[in-house]
Amino acid sequence: MAEPGTYYITTPIYYVNDKPHIGHCYTTVLVDAAARFQRLVRGEPLPRAGERPTPGSVFFLTGNDEHAEKVVTTAREHGLSPIEWADKNAAEFQRAFASMGIAYDDFIRTTQERHKAGVTRYIRELQRRGDVYLGDYEGWYDVNEENYVPENKAKERDYKGENGKPLVRRKEQNYYFRLTKYEGWLKEHIESNPGFVQPDARRNEVLGRLREGLIDVPISRPITDDPATQFGIRMPDDPSHRVYVWIDALFNYLTAVDTPERRKFWPADVHLIGKEILWFHACIWPAVLHALGEDLPRMVYAHSHYIREGKKMSKSLGNFIDLDVIEAYRAKYSTDALRWYLITQGPLGVTDADFTHAKFVEVYNADLANGIGNCASRVSNMIGKYFDGRVPDPEGIDTAVTNDPAFLWKTYVPRDVSEAVAGSAKFNLARLLFLGTKQVIKVDQYINMTSPFKLAKVVGDDPSKKRHLAAILYHCAEALRIASLLLYPAMPEKMAELWRRWNCAPPPGVPLSELAQWAGPHGLKPGTRLEIGDALFMRADPAEPAPA
Ligand code: MSP
Repeated sequence: MAEPGTYYITTPIYYVNDKPHIGHCYTTVLVDAAARFQRLVRGEPLPRAGERPTPGSVFFLTGNDEHAEKVVTTAREHGLSPIEWADKNAAEFQRAFASMGIAYDDFIRTTQERHKAGVTRYIRELQRRGDVYLGDYEGWYDVNEENYVPENKAKERDYKGENGKPLVRRKEQNYYFRLTKYEGWLKEHIESNPGFVQPDARRNEVLGRLREGLIDVPISRPITDDPATQFGIRMPDDPSHRVYVWIDALFNYLTAVDTPERRKFWPADVHLIGKEILWFHACIWPAVLHALGEDLPRMVYAHSHYIREGKKMSKSLGNFIDLDVIEAYRAKYSTDALRWYLITQGPLGVTDADFTHAKFVEVYNADLANGIGNCASRVSNMIGKYFDGRVPDPEGIDTAVTNDPAFLWKTYVPRDVSEAVAGSAKFNLARLLFLGTKQVIKVDQYINMTSPFKLAKVVGDDPSKKRHLAAILYHCAEALRIASLLLYPAMPEKMAELWRRWNCAPPPGVPLSELAQWAGPHGLKPGTRLEIGDALFMRADPAEPAPA
């Protein structure tokens, strides 16, 4: 059992045959935000954008899946060996993730010794437990997806793969895993643990497919003269077979933490994946783990896909949001703006989400430039002007008398923070960020309602009015400080900048419940000097074309 309090979250490991694109960044940014939120909840040190975190009770794993046939063929097209090609692209993934501000604890590559040794060990153990046998396979194979396709599905698709290329007929001997043995157990597990496969529609999809019945699955592929078949982990005691790339890949989640120091993280809390790889994660992986006597991950969450300007992104259309486009958006709007858009507008639910430039600018202006950015500037500027740039003292003001609704903060701030923590258990990241945004909107409404700029004009010598002005601005700044905690998982750089200016960075060791206490020991201190600074986000012109 995992030690109470640990949190282990993973992304899929991405094929290394090509460079990363926005889809890979989306999943990885989501996991980064979830891991950051958990670190904040527990009071662990918060990693800077793109940095390795200090080891603690949260573990975030990502990496590359390398033993795929298409890695060998693309390497050949580029005149490189498979491992040279994999090294080159693995570096691209790491660079892309760093530039997106992602701070993972580990980046696993399936060509690493630690992984290969783990896979061999687990397969031996499956064999020892009698769950593996040698059998014959004759049927269709989708080389691009690295997937065996049953006859009925192949016929439905006119014998073409997901990418439109013809399926390949394969007749071969394979080692099989006795998946059928676990059919009843798996159905029962998914039915009685509603949170195991999420969202619900995906869970129903898996249950529906389970009702059609299972067949045993190949876990090895024969090695032939074709070099594409030679890149992989050998089956234990049978060098004429290599481990099927999907089985090899799934084990990464376990090999990465199968060390004395890291074992405490297993089982994973969340495997975040895209919807197209749900079956491997919600059926085959749990059955393999169960066969090994391992605990199961607590949640497999399958999100949907980003499409672009109404069209599915594909190689043939050449419309991927690739590294160049990502770089152009980052340069123009900031990394955190791109993270914000990806997370809040992304396909976390069951429908695909469209990445359109017009929507990007709309969200950027509404939530960031006119939202948190403008609100923080407004509050800093007023404090600059009326209180010489020092956090004003809210003491000594009777809000009931001044008809000021500020007393409400103390009620809804803790409620929103608890809701954010509860929602994170269901992987409801968009809601978490919405709660942060809601606070910002409330501060804007409060400013409009109490009009501190008007009050400032009539303060004169009246100390009670001055005290009221101080209270209003303290409330605004303190509410924004707490909002910034909730917004931090999506915008680590910008919120760190705000904390620097306001001298309120969360000290390590203090959990969110304490950090978020209204005017508590970690609240804004009256008298602290604020640095005013430029707007956190400059307004964007909707008429400008998409950066490219
Ligand atoms: N190597 C396998 C996964 C093995 S996990 C044990 C694989 N790799 S992949 O490179 O094809 O990456 C697939 C993942 O990338 C998806 O599951 C999803 O997380 C992400 N995305 C790829 N395209 C995407 C979109 N268009 N939109 C959102 N995410 C997408 O499958």
